[in-house]
Amino acid sequence: MSDKFAVVLAAGQGTRMKSKLYKVLHPVCGKPMVQHVVDNLQELNANRIVVVVGHGAEKVQEQLGTHVEYVMQEQQLGTAHAVMQVAPLLEDAPGTTLVLSGDEPLISADTLAKLTADHEASGAAGTILTRIMDNPTGYGRIIRNAHGQVERIVEQKDANEEEQRVQEINTGTYCFDNQKLFAALKKVDNKNAQGEFYLTDVIEILQKDGQSIEASVTDEVTIGVNDRVALAKAEAMMRIRILEAHMRAGVTLIDPQNTYIETNVVIGRDTVIYPGTLIGAGTVIGEDCIIGPNSQLMNCEVGDRVHIKQSVLMDSRIDSDATVGPFAYVRPNSHVGEGAKVGDFVELKNTTLGKGSKVSHLTYLGDAEIGADVNVGCGTVTVNYDGVKKYKTVVKDGSFVGCNTNLVAPVTVGEGAYIAAGSTINQDVPDGALAIARTRQTNKENYASKIIKK
Ligand code: UD1
Ligand code: CA
Repeated sequence: MSDKFAVVLAAGQGTRMKSKLYKVLHPVCGKPMVQHVVDNLQELNANRIVVVVGHGAEKVQEQLGTHVEYVMQEQQLGTAHAVMQVAPLLEDAPGTTLVLSGDEPLISADTLAKLTADHEASGAAGTILTRIMDNPTGYGRIIRNAHGQVERIVEQKDANEEEQRVQEINTGTYCFDNQKLFAALKKVDNKNAQGEFYLTDVIEILQKDGQSIEASVTDEVTIGVNDRVALAKAEAMMRIRILEAHMRAGVTLIDPQNTYIETNVVIGRDTVIYPGTLIGAGTVIGEDCIIGPNSQLMNCEVGDRVHIKQSVLMDSRIDSDATVGPFAYVRPNSHVGEGAKVGDFVELKNTTLGKGSKVSHLTYLGDAEIGADVNVGCGTVTVNYDGVKKYKTVVKDGSFVGCNTNLVAPVTVGEGAYIAAGSTINQDVPDGALAIARTRQTNKENYASKIIKK
């Protein structure tokens, strides 16, 4: 088997995005476009993946890490010029090279595998991944001769009227005989409407040289993302794919059109997702859960049979049989134990709630470690911040925290302790103790009429 290489073009600024963020780093369903491309390549087991970077090189490298190699394209003189930068690394190697655009996130690993297989089966010097589009505007068009053989690609800006009517487009994805690719690249010039060195010219150069060129026509929906309109379309298309994959795997989505699930999300069977729910990348949800409506889970780990309604959860873990919401806000690094309850208008931050514990209403717990089977009454507040530093609150197993308690941290409430409602606790409470920390009530008989004069 010959070596397989891949070159990913990711050096452009992406002027049409009108963004501070470099084009290929714009996320589609929670994952940067160029990461989609590289992840697909990794599935194909390419021997070497080389990413051409330029604009925002550091940021792109930070995103993709050390799994790929990089070459620098100092000036962005066109797609052929970009591939040329890889010559010192690959030029002489025998093998097959996939060339891909960092702004084509929808081309799946299956489609790339098919392109490679088609290319190898035909023995062509180059194979273009093409697609038939109702509206081909903006894309390079595939020009075939009378026998239907591919002759060249013409860019939108260089195409005459007849060429513009061609509906077969270049997806910007190709498979080449590696040595023939680099030999042809040397002959590309920049005499065209954009004054750029077009990679697409390689096709005509090879064809004129008597080499065979093929097209692998895909019916997979693809899109080259050059502006935010295309970005939104790519997002919508990717989203449908993700949602359908979850539904096929046994997840019920009550209203897919109002459900947003990013990439790299795992959801167990028979979990039901209600409308208005956004599940962010990296989230893992177990079986038989009910999620939503109107909930947001970002990078969370959720067990089985969990019920989350109308709530926002981030970077946290919810164990099996727990319930959250409605209207709860679970902030990063929180852990809700098995069967625990986080009720309405409760905020947790960097807080652990033990197994079976209940925080049913209107409470803020920050930097707290709450044991098992604790009842935290309505209106409890951990006073965790003195304006300079944050402090920890510990409430041990089986305690009862009465309504409207202030827990002034750092403070520890012992096991099985009982705090009277309305207390401001600023000293540790021993195991099993009753703590009352509020002023005594005074009743002045018959005094009300002196204040409320009729
Ligand atoms: C390109 C193709 C076009 C195809 C379309 C598919 C050419 C000349 N045209 O057009 O036929 O239909 O993709 O989406 O190739 N890049 C570099 N360095 C450069 C220039 C570009 O790395 O000097 C990178 C960009 O970051 C981008 C990719 O190459 O990821 C494609 O460049 P772009 O300018 O978006 O090409 P299109 O005009 O979309
Ligand atoms: Ca493009």
